[in-house]
Amino acid sequence: MPVISIASTKGGVGKTTLSRILVASLASESADFVAIDADPNDALSRWRSKFYSGPDFDLVREPDHDRLAHLIHERAQSREIVIVDTAGFNNQSATIAMTFSDSVLIPIMADEADMEGAEKTWQRCRGVALGARREIPAWVVMNSVKKTSQIHQHVLGELQRLAEEVGLRWLDTKLSNLVAYNEISWSGSLPDRGPAVQEIRHFMDELRRRSILPPATAASRKTPNA
Ligand SMILES: Nc1ncnc2c1ncn2[C@@H]1O[C@H](COP(=O)(O)OP(=O)(O)O)[C@@H](O)[C@H]1O
Ligand SMILES: [Mg+2]
Repeated sequence: MPVISIASTKGGVGKTTLSRILVASLASESADFVAIDADPNDALSRWRSKFYSGPDFDLVREPDHDRLAHLIHERAQSREIVIVDTAGFNNQSATIAMTFSDSVLIPIMADEADMEGAEKTWQRCRGVALGARREIPAWVVMNSVKKTSQIHQHVLGELQRLAEEVGLRWLDTKLSNLVAYNEISWSGSLPDRGPAVQEIRHFMDELRRRSILPPATAASRKTPNA
């Protein structure tokens, strides 16, 4: 525990990018975690096998939603953290991942359809939480942001409206629109210079501040041969 899912009914909003940032950051800290790629498109698995060049970590590919439930359940017993990257269209997998999640991260870019995707995903999460009779905290993550653009102001206004209407909330950390994020998918390592370095640090710090991730203590680290 905890299980963290990255979900949105909308494709192309940065789910796999956020997953890459999370898993590469956790791997660099030698955290005891497993990544689960629940997207039949295999983007996270492909990145891991073709490009990723950081410290080794466990990744399991599971596109079958029935098997996914058992896999998350089993891995959550043996690992400190479980990260699940989900597909935009295969909603059964995303819903199952939510059922097991301690937190759900919902990325959005500055697009009307992404906002719609975030609202739908938020509502699904609330529905799953009602069925599970427990809270499933979710946060929108503003991704690919152009901070000074008018469209970003529009997004903030829309988020505010949804906060009032359905209680939607978001992380303080915003990931800017940067080639550096795009490059992770080819380079297999996290940016080592420029504004992305600080944004990623803020992102990880905020996840810990909000107890979405456990503290990076020595106790949570895996032993070298585990
Ligand atoms: N903050 C960002 N800045 C620039 N490009 C980004 C950013 N986040 C994602 N991208 C790019 O947007 C595309 C879609 O992102 P991806 O993570 O694959 O979305 P999803 O998994 O939700 O379908 C990819 O080409 C990715 O490199
Ligand atoms: Mg993806």
